[in-house]
Amino acid sequence: MLYRQVYEYVVNQIERGDWNAGEKLPSVRQLALELDVNRLTVFKAYQHLKQEGKVEVKEKSGYYVASRHKPQVESDDSERHWKNKLSEIQRKPAIYQFSTAIIDPNLLPNLFLSDYVKQVFDIYPKLMGTYSTAQGDEELREHLSRYMVRKHRLQLTASELLITSGAQQAIDLIARTYIRPMDAIMVERPTYSAALDVFRAYGARFFAVDITPEGYDLEKVEQVMKQHRPRFFYMNPTFHNPTGYTVPSAQRKQLVELAERYRCLLIEDDAFNDMYFDQPPPPPLFSYDTEGWVVYIRSFCKYVAPGLRICAVMGRKSVIQPLISSKSLADNGTPLVNQKIFLHYFESDRMQQHLKKLRIALQIRRDIMEEELIQAQAPDWQWVSPKGGLYLWIKLPDGFPVTPYLDECLRQSVSFIPGTICDPMNAIDDRIRLCFSFVNESQLREGVRRLVTIARHF
Ligand SMILES: Cc1ncc(COP(=O)(O)O)c(C=O)c1O
Repeated sequence: MLYRQVYEYVVNQIERGDWNAGEKLPSVRQLALELDVNRLTVFKAYQHLKQEGKVEVKEKSGYYVASRHKPQVESDDSERHWKNKLSEIQRKPAIYQFSTAIIDPNLLPNLFLSDYVKQVFDIYPKLMGTYSTAQGDEELREHLSRYMVRKHRLQLTASELLITSGAQQAIDLIARTYIRPMDAIMVERPTYSAALDVFRAYGARFFAVDITPEGYDLEKVEQVMKQHRPRFFYMNPTFHNPTGYTVPSAQRKQLVELAERYRCLLIEDDAFNDMYFDQPPPPPLFSYDTEGWVVYIRSFCKYVAPGLRICAVMGRKSVIQPLISSKSLADNGTPLVNQKIFLHYFESDRMQQHLKKLRIALQIRRDIMEEELIQAQAPDWQWVSPKGGLYLWIKLPDGFPVTPYLDECLRQSVSFIPGTICDPMNAIDDRIRLCFSFVNESQLREGVRRLVTIARHF
């Protein structure tokens, strides 16, 4: 599929107007050298572009952008480079929402938070008239760094922490800081699809390693690092989205050692760390990092307040400094009001009480979803029961037609995420992700029954 990425790269250049109609394209040899790929790969991409009329061949001269080709900055075709496939599905209305990775707002501390809204305006009367620094409110960074030191026994100071507007912004800042078009990056297969969409938009080339209930194949990880020198490995090793798997403790230290040996950053996205059911998860990879090869993203959006969009990015100075510069270019700082409200709630006793109750509520919803799937005798559906997080990752029978099934489910007001969009290769076509955290318990039962009934017709 590598040629497809070269193809996308060329199309992107043409549509942004970097390469104009009638202009000569780099030769196969030149482009292969530039992108560090095989000449045959470039040749195949050029052949496809020729067949589609996007490029023309002039004998003994080379390849040219087709003369009738106009840059199409606003066209649907160019938009595909800036698409968030996940949010497109999530936008579709459905009563039985199993696609949205959100916790039911009834389980979140909305009422308590409004108390803190009043409180922070009393404490900081000029709050609305003040910018945050680009790095984030110092008081919040101090508090979060102490919290991380206590909780995970790691070394961290407030200066090694950056506040972003959600993990989504952190992913975007990392991509814009580290990815140049056609750079190799390593990702899990499957993975969080909106991260793939961001990396794709910046022109990254994917090398994927499977994630399984036992973690990764470390030999494969090492081989990719050694052979392709990826800029980073983006991973979600704890209650992984979409599978719910957790990379075992024993692999974590080894992964950091591999990162050090091959000078490959590990981007550890840890959005679900606190959402465990029985046992807390193993320590983050970041807790093993002494040399600055891990960037740790810890979002608090999911289980405190999605509306406040508070996320902390942590790392040694060498990685945090460039990200602060990118953050400053992006928006000059996350709104200070949000940071202060979050801080005052987060440091209160209510926060820990909320987490305890939330874990129980989420576990109950997971159990209900599993129970209903078993009772409805979903034909040959298989999954590994998650020990935390928000999803079931279901294996459907081979050859099951997921796309028409999703269309019919949406028509009948049930939504889910198809596995293909979580796959860097777009090929996992026998899996779906069902989120159990958003709808209430009776909707959960009804929705699962409907999902299974519809499946019987395929
Ligand atoms: C793995 C992962 N990373 C990042 C995000 C984005 O989270 P945030 O709301 O903090 O932007 C999500 C959201 O579902 C996620 O699942």
